[in-house]
Amino acid sequence: MKEKDVRALFLEYFAGKGHKVYDSMPLVPDDPTLLFTNAGMVQFKDIFTGRIPIPSPNIATSAQTCIRAGGKHNDLENVGYTARHHTLFEMLGNFSFGAYFKKEAIAYAWEFVTEVLGFDKSVLYVTIHESDEEAFELWSKHIDTARIKRMGNKDNFWQMGDVGPCGPCSEIFVDQGAEFFNGPEDYFGGDGDRFLEIWNLVFMQFERDKEGNLKPLPKPSIDTGMGLERVVALLEGKHSNFDSSLFMPLIAKVEEITRQTYIYESGASFRVIADHARSVAFLLAQGVNFDKEGRGYVLRRILRRAIRHGYLLGLREPFVYQVVGCVCENMGAHYRYLLEKQQAVMQQCKAEELRFFETIENGMNLFNKELEKLKDEKPNQLFSGEVAFKLYDTYGFPLDLTQDMLRENGFGVDVDSFEICMKAQKEQAKANWKGSGDSVKEGDFKLLLSEFGVNEFVGYEKTEAQSRILALLDANLQRVESIKKDEMGFILLDRTPFYPESGGPMGDKGVLMHNNDKIAEILDTKKYFGLNISQVKAVQDLRLKEGVLAIVDSIRLEIAKHHSATHLLHKALREILGEHITQAGSLVESNRLRFDFSHSQSLNKEELEKIEQNVNAQILSSYPQICEQMDIQSAKAKGAMALFGEKYGTEVRVISFGDSIELCGGIHVPNTAFIGSFYIVKESGVSSGVRRIEAVCGKAAYELGKNALDDIEKAKENLKAQNLLQGIDKLKEQVRELKNKANKFPNSLKAMKSEIINGTKLIVLELKEIEASEAKKLVDNAKNENEKVAILLLSTEEQKDKIGITAGVKGVDLKAGAWVKEIAQILGGNGGGREDFATAGGKDKLKIPQALQRAKEIAKEALK
Ligand code: ALA
Repeated sequence: MKEKDVRALFLEYFAGKGHKVYDSMPLVPDDPTLLFTNAGMVQFKDIFTGRIPIPSPNIATSAQTCIRAGGKHNDLENVGYTARHHTLFEMLGNFSFGAYFKKEAIAYAWEFVTEVLGFDKSVLYVTIHESDEEAFELWSKHIDTARIKRMGNKDNFWQMGDVGPCGPCSEIFVDQGAEFFNGPEDYFGGDGDRFLEIWNLVFMQFERDKEGNLKPLPKPSIDTGMGLERVVALLEGKHSNFDSSLFMPLIAKVEEITRQTYIYESGASFRVIADHARSVAFLLAQGVNFDKEGRGYVLRRILRRAIRHGYLLGLREPFVYQVVGCVCENMGAHYRYLLEKQQAVMQQCKAEELRFFETIENGMNLFNKELEKLKDEKPNQLFSGEVAFKLYDTYGFPLDLTQDMLRENGFGVDVDSFEICMKAQKEQAKANWKGSGDSVKEGDFKLLLSEFGVNEFVGYEKTEAQSRILALLDANLQRVESIKKDEMGFILLDRTPFYPESGGPMGDKGVLMHNNDKIAEILDTKKYFGLNISQVKAVQDLRLKEGVLAIVDSIRLEIAKHHSATHLLHKALREILGEHITQAGSLVESNRLRFDFSHSQSLNKEELEKIEQNVNAQILSSYPQICEQMDIQSAKAKGAMALFGEKYGTEVRVISFGDSIELCGGIHVPNTAFIGSFYIVKESGVSSGVRRIEAVCGKAAYELGKNALDDIEKAKENLKAQNLLQGIDKLKEQVRELKNKANKFPNSLKAMKSEIINGTKLIVLELKEIEASEAKKLVDNAKNENEKVAILLLSTEEQKDKIGITAGVKGVDLKAGAWVKEIAQILGGNGGGREDFATAGGKDKLKIPQALQRAKEIAKEALK
């Protein structure tokens, strides 16, 4: 039985029992306390805890892709070395939000395992929490009590993370038989692979808070998780997940690349590569990018671990990307986006691989040298933390990769000294990895939620609404009866037109009016646990239950313009650069927008031009906004672009402008014409494989244009030119001419060729492209700079026939007048002057060499 059959059987079974089938949510959850979606229940977390009202029906089922590579549930180290651990896997689950509890959960699980999947009862075992008498009773109706084992908190108490929903659990195991497994841990309850846990039934009863306290959930609930890969392997009669039809094609690909045959016993590297390629494919396709910190760093670590295993197999150039391509092809039938993104994902992976292959050789050498030292000189010590840090910092070896490599040799890293080296970077990383959680006291909000329910948002249609003040909170988020004049606080309105900050766009600002008087300023609006709450500054005392007119600041329209423009830009990028473009983030303000997207190269001028034109063409087409509510399947069928990293409810809002169709809960302009115009102001790289476009539209675009025009006017005035471009050309021509002259013109007389004769400086030169007046200055300078000097310059200009002759004499018995006269005659002209300074003209340029020669002779004679 293949994976798609098991998945379909599971979902059909529970749908048949009235459960609503939910799609797999993104691997990056909307939850700062979780690194990745690590269980099927993550998308229902807020329902379990009561932060979101219970949906109808109150039972659900899903097949959820999960990653456990960091955080509370981390299987990374085990991958490749056991038959059952993976970084990415699929969890089949059924969920009850206060509808049914242990009895039904156990009965469903038993029926599905024995009757639908057909497992023989003789191979099944279960564990329960040691204190759970009820579960014991319930199981004993199905299974021999000798096969029920009580276990402690470590094994049979499940929790999502350090905080969040949790509860005792019960697990179903399949005995794979002593004939295949007889290691020391292969007993029921041991860590071996023989007794394979296939399904965990969690009896969700508590929520753990930051202090570690357990609080009862509003309603006892059910969360279950069955490992798809394990079940597929068992049903295919395989004893390792890696031998199943899910992994064998990937392992075959590694065999093809390495030209080696996979043997289970020595094949850990093959398994690691096959497993990690799946995580890399899904994470990249869902828009996570390689990064220096956070989730992107986990992705990098996973890829580098796979590369290192390829290195062990003798590979010296990028290869994982090929296995990633294979994942996309094999799993693309169910996860369409893998096929859609295949090329981009492979490209991104290959580029990142190249980066590591540049340093891996040197890193491995450093590692091996240090390891030899350890083996020979300090066998009982730890691997140097400084070297581990150097491997990390210089060669890109994540710490856990170094630890992984050492584990095979029985050594560990001196983590303390590594940490010391790392501190600076770590602090930086911490600062950047704050997540999106607000440090609010959620207790207060939960009370508000249970008292008033979710407040109504009316701001899609209007920018003004008559409302009533339901609750007030002071600056410390404590509930208060009033907020005094000039004080700040938070306000919950029964109907609010203020749009809360979400994803890209900023939250709304505005005012509250009462009897035509302004009584408060709204500074910002955000969502807290489902409630739409605004930050206020009281202009007059604010009181509970007061009726107010809430008015959204007109800046909202400018924000909406930039928001709608991001949709048009997204559309343009896909049209011009290709379908691989996906949004990787955005920021929308009243005077600018920023749009990040996956693309591996920087954009050239021509592409940017086309994109800008495309967006402006959409604006000029005056497309009206069409806003529809529909289920997610219909939205996808319509071609709506859904973003990974966003959690969509079952009903989604689809915003269309012409051919731009996106799932979006935000505020938009009624018609693209409102946007006015759109200018790209910058294109840059954010991280590997992610580019950023910054642009302006609406009023900001007008201002950009206006400023540019003003500058042009000023420039025209300065240039005294009617036509700016012609003026600039003229200026450039003048600069060129001056440069030419300057190049030929000696900067200083000192630089002019000269001779010293009997203590007198003699300069006789032809200077091209200088005017006679400039020659005169040079002669004057020469006289100022020297005690004894005789200087004669011929100045010529290519365009003119005339030759200028300028001479100066100081402290020497030579008469300038006579000197120039004789030279002028040679050059076919005449002239003369004083004894110390004289000018003349000539015209026969061919005679210049002769004239220069003679000028020197005359001077030398006189200076003898
Ligand atoms: N949430 C439970 C688990 O992950 C079902 O095992």
